[in-house]
Amino acid sequence: MAMTRLLFSCCLFWGLALAAKFQTFTPLGPNGLIYSIHIPEATANTSNGPIYFQMNSTKRIEWFALGQGDHMAGSNMFVVYTSGNNVTVSPRSGVGHSQPLYNPAAQITVMNGSGVHGSMITANIKCDNCLHWGTATMDPTSSSSSWIWGVRYGPPLNTKKLSANILQHDIMGVHMVDLKNATGPTGANPFADLVSINDNPNADYPFKESGFHAKKIAHGALMIVAFVVMFPFSALILHLYSSSNIVTIHGGLQLLALVVSIAGLGLGVSMAQQVHVLDHYHVIIGIIVIASLTLFQPAMGLLQHRYFRKTGGKGPFAYIHRWFGRIMIILGVINVGLGFQFTGVGDPDAPRGAVIGVSVLICVIALFYVLRVGYVTKKQRRRASAEAD
Ligand SMILES: *[C@@H]1O[C@H](CO)[C@@H](O)[C@H](O)[C@H]1NC(C)=O
Ligand SMILES: *[C@@H]1O[C@H](CO)[C@@H](O)[C@H](O)[C@H]1NC(C)=O
Ligand SMILES: *[C@@H]1O[C@H](CO)[C@@H](O)[C@H](O)[C@H]1NC(C)=O
Ligand SMILES: *[C@@H]1O[C@H](CO)[C@@H](O)[C@H](O)[C@H]1NC(C)=O
Ligand SMILES: *[C@@H]1O[C@H](CO)[C@@H](O)[C@H](O)[C@H]1NC(C)=O
Repeated sequence: MAMTRLLFSCCLFWGLALAAKFQTFTPLGPNGLIYSIHIPEATANTSNGPIYFQMNSTKRIEWFALGQGDHMAGSNMFVVYTSGNNVTVSPRSGVGHSQPLYNPAAQITVMNGSGVHGSMITANIKCDNCLHWGTATMDPTSSSSSWIWGVRYGPPLNTKKLSANILQHDIMGVHMVDLKNATGPTGANPFADLVSINDNPNADYPFKESGFHAKKIAHGALMIVAFVVMFPFSALILHLYSSSNIVTIHGGLQLLALVVSIAGLGLGVSMAQQVHVLDHYHVIIGIIVIASLTLFQPAMGLLQHRYFRKTGGKGPFAYIHRWFGRIMIILGVINVGLGFQFTGVGDPDAPRGAVIGVSVLICVIALFYVLRVGYVTKKQRRRASAEAD
């Protein structure tokens, strides 16, 4: 009896010793994505050799990804999508926040156990050159190794193409993995005897999925209304009517447009914080344009107004106010376009029809503005020269 127990303990010990230790993290909770990483002892000892990782999605999704590094630019990424009941693992190089490009230099093997099992998508991956990529390296003994992850919900891509066109993630994040706890002996197929150790959930950068889509749509709508319609219209109003209180109406309408755009900016910055893209040029241009419009534009308008009351004429502020305003509106409209590009034209949040509609509206308003302002200015000039005669 004692002998059996001893034998059993021995077997159990050997079983555990041979089982490959995987450090597992589940950034969206247990019913979302399950990422597990294993470092063979030999790889850790020599800083050379393969590493293993498993990517599980508990739901059918369009794609999900895991990448080495703490942001998309320069990351060594692996995007998984399905083709029937098989998985396609597409290695990609992250290039900022545009679509990561297929990376043929990656040496990976998609191992047994990969595929669609019920509602679970599993990719078991052995990577032979994941310690060095581009100019970056990963220390296999690091106790805080950064990994990014992302997911896009939607119908399966259903393709074996490694360079398939993928649309932007719905959610992404960064997770710190303690690779020391992922290190152990490795059998021929470590996935066959996977022992998963849950990683510290606090190592995940906090973010909430809730409201992201609603925010994205509200942000887009507010910015289009402000920059494509309200700002140009209330600039144009000065050229359309010559009532005595038109300047007050202009000022009031522009303040309203400013409030709308600041609300849009608030939503935009909140989204950018959620997905860690505060340094993206779309975000930076938006902050600069709206900060400038808030800080300088009303002041220039008021200074001109004071100048006008004193002298009855146009001072330097009038020209600064007019041209600064025009430039900022143009930058804002360009940034609306960059926002569409950022989301990805054809994305459910930026459908092609909406993008075409907004583009047509921009052209019509711009044409009307140029014709109207050009015409009125010419007429005024003619009148001025007639008065001079
Ligand atoms: C790795 O190093 C540890 C400690 O130095 C040693 O016990 C272990 O046998 C080594 N493993 C391999 C596979 O080299
Ligand atoms: C999955 O891959 C295997 C092996 O490459 C192939 O035989 C099978 O037809 C594939 N199944 C589907 C649904 O594509
Ligand atoms: C692959 O795994 C399946 C079960 O997951 C097993 O039946 C099969 O024998 C394995 N094949 C190889 C070549 O290891
Ligand atoms: C991932 O999914 C496979 C089944 O497809 C399962 O065997 C494995 O245990 C899962 N991994 C984790 C860490 O839950
Ligand atoms: C990793 O290992 C260290 C030391 O063995 C232990 O203190 C720590 O709790 C482990 N972390 C996790 C997330 O398992």
